[in-house]
Amino acid sequence: PRFFVLNGPNLNLLGTREPSVYGHDDLAALDARCHACAERLGMTVECRQSNHEGVLVDWIHEAGRRAAGLVLNAAAYTHTSVALRDALAAVDLPAIEVHLSNIHAREPFRHRSMIAPCTIGTIAGFGPLGYELALTALVERLQATAG
Ligand code: DQA
Repeated sequence: PRFFVLNGPNLNLLGTREPSVYGHDDLAALDARCHACAERLGMTVECRQSNHEGVLVDWIHEAGRRAAGLVLNAAAYTHTSVALRDALAAVDLPAIEVHLSNIHAREPFRHRSMIAPCTIGTIAGFGPLGYELALTALVERLQATAG
C-alpha cells in the first residue's frame, strides 16, 4: 500500500527558512526520512510539496484515488483554507495533520486549524519525527480497519 505525504507553502525552503523554528534539515532530507520510515513499515510513500493551494487540492483528490492514507503538512493553509478542508472531507481517506513546530506554543493565529476536523489527529512540535509518527499511526489505522 501507498501513502501520500503532502507539504504546503514555503516548506521547499526548509533548512534555510527560520531554522530556529523549523530546524536545519532540508525538504530532501525530510522526504528521505519518510521513504526510509515507510520502507520499515512495509509501505511505499509518495512525497510532494507545493506552494499553491489548488495544486494541493488536486493532490488530495489524487490521494483519494491512489493512496491508502495521507500525511498532510498544509503549512500556512492549515489556518485559512476551506478548500483544503473540503477536499479532505470529499475523499474517503485517513489523513493525519503534521506540523514541524508546536503551533499551539506560537502566535494565536496558528492555534486554529481549518483542516483538523477532517483528520484522524494532529502531530505538532516534533520536527521531522512527526512525519514518522504519522506514518506509523496510519499503518496502525489501516491494520485496525482491515482486521
Ligand atoms: C507549519 C506551521 C504553520 O503555522 C506555518 O505556517 C508553516 C509550517 C509547521 O510545520 O510547523 O508554514 O505547518
